[in-house]
Amino acid sequence: MNPHIIESFSGKSKNEKLAILSQQCNLSCGDMEQLVISRHPDKEVASLLDKFSENTLAHHMLPFGIAPNFLVDGKTYHIPMVTEESSVVAAASAAAKFWANQGGFHTIIKPPQKSGHLHFFWNGNAAQISALETEIEEIMKQKCAHLTQKMETRGGGIYSVHIINLTDKLEDYYQLEIKFGTADSMGANFINSCLEEMAKHLPSFLKIKTGIPAEVIMAILSNHNPESLVTVTAECPINAFSQLKGIDNAENFARKMKLAFDIATNDISRAVTHNKGIMNGIDAVILATANDFRAIEAEAHAWAAISGNYKALSSVTLNGAQFTLSMTLPLSVGTVGGVTTLHPLSQLALKILGNPDAITLMSLIASTGLASNFAAVKALVTQGIQHGHMKMHLSNILQILHANTTETEKVKKWFRDKAINIREVDLYLSNLRNGSKD
Ligand code: MEV
Repeated sequence: MNPHIIESFSGKSKNEKLAILSQQCNLSCGDMEQLVISRHPDKEVASLLDKFSENTLAHHMLPFGIAPNFLVDGKTYHIPMVTEESSVVAAASAAAKFWANQGGFHTIIKPPQKSGHLHFFWNGNAAQISALETEIEEIMKQKCAHLTQKMETRGGGIYSVHIINLTDKLEDYYQLEIKFGTADSMGANFINSCLEEMAKHLPSFLKIKTGIPAEVIMAILSNHNPESLVTVTAECPINAFSQLKGIDNAENFARKMKLAFDIATNDISRAVTHNKGIMNGIDAVILATANDFRAIEAEAHAWAAISGNYKALSSVTLNGAQFTLSMTLPLSVGTVGGVTTLHPLSQLALKILGNPDAITLMSLIASTGLASNFAAVKALVTQGIQHGHMKMHLSNILQILHANTTETEKVKKWFRDKAINIREVDLYLSNLRNGSKD
């Protein structure tokens, strides 16, 4: 028997789990202490957080910051962002301030629609099953009425049911594709419950109608949402860039920005990193509002590859003296339901945003993504990314080296115009501490 396999871990008490982990993973008392002090100090909140997941031993902490001054569709917002990456909040804030002076971000949203599928195999005549589509739609809506009733009062529900013939891809493979509206919720549980209900009825319905039963392989929502798109744009006269720090030739800057965005449209290696810069902003708001960042990442990258080639999600156009930054992508978010409603910090994040509905939250998140993207590419085509990164990184290094306030000030002053790495900072600090630097 493998001595490292832990039997029935989930059934153990928290203390037993800690003891097992400590023994199995060779954890010190200090390590155990770290887990214990990382629990939320409020007992009620701690117990709530424990229950979001399984085998919870501690509560992972990340910085919750604010990127102020986002002007989005004529209204000013201060955006909560949760990220571990230095410079992301600072960069988004700087970009937001610049664009606020240019009229801000403008968004257009296609009303969100979500889809889910029954993936099934049926060995009959394609024309026969497609003739049953309307009847199947009616039956499925009826069978799910007990699940959709409440959602319908909120403006959502089942919009449509279609049969998709995919027998050219896999023998006998069909989908029942269902489009849903989920109002202000992300709606994953609602969609999957409806789909599983439908899966109970489709095989017998087809057996009665055609004499051939269907085999449902799975029933699951799709995170591919090419119909629920937000488009965000920001525009300014090119000469406005001369207000930005570090830009002495606005026209040259605009030209280089355009080329940098065009590179990301044409080269996958650059596109992935370019889009990562967008997701720096998007994921930070997704995390702050306790939305599902895995779903957002999956749908964004599928959309980036929708043409068959993976491309940048955003683009720049130059029209005479005018510079336009724009981006379109799907963003399935919710402002009610699930952890978004339960997590005390996501509730606070939504309050800071003025308790937006899901559509407004899409606009705010897309604007934060575009601001982050603008800031990153601006840095890349001017002083390079390391300058800003390293300034923030220096703070982390100083914490690692336990620098006090006076030492921190001296180190920051010394490294203002020098390359930063932990070895150099350590050396400077050691010299400072043993008196060979003042
Ligand atoms: C780093 O987190 C993000 C960037 O790499 C994005 C980009 O290259 O556009 C700076």
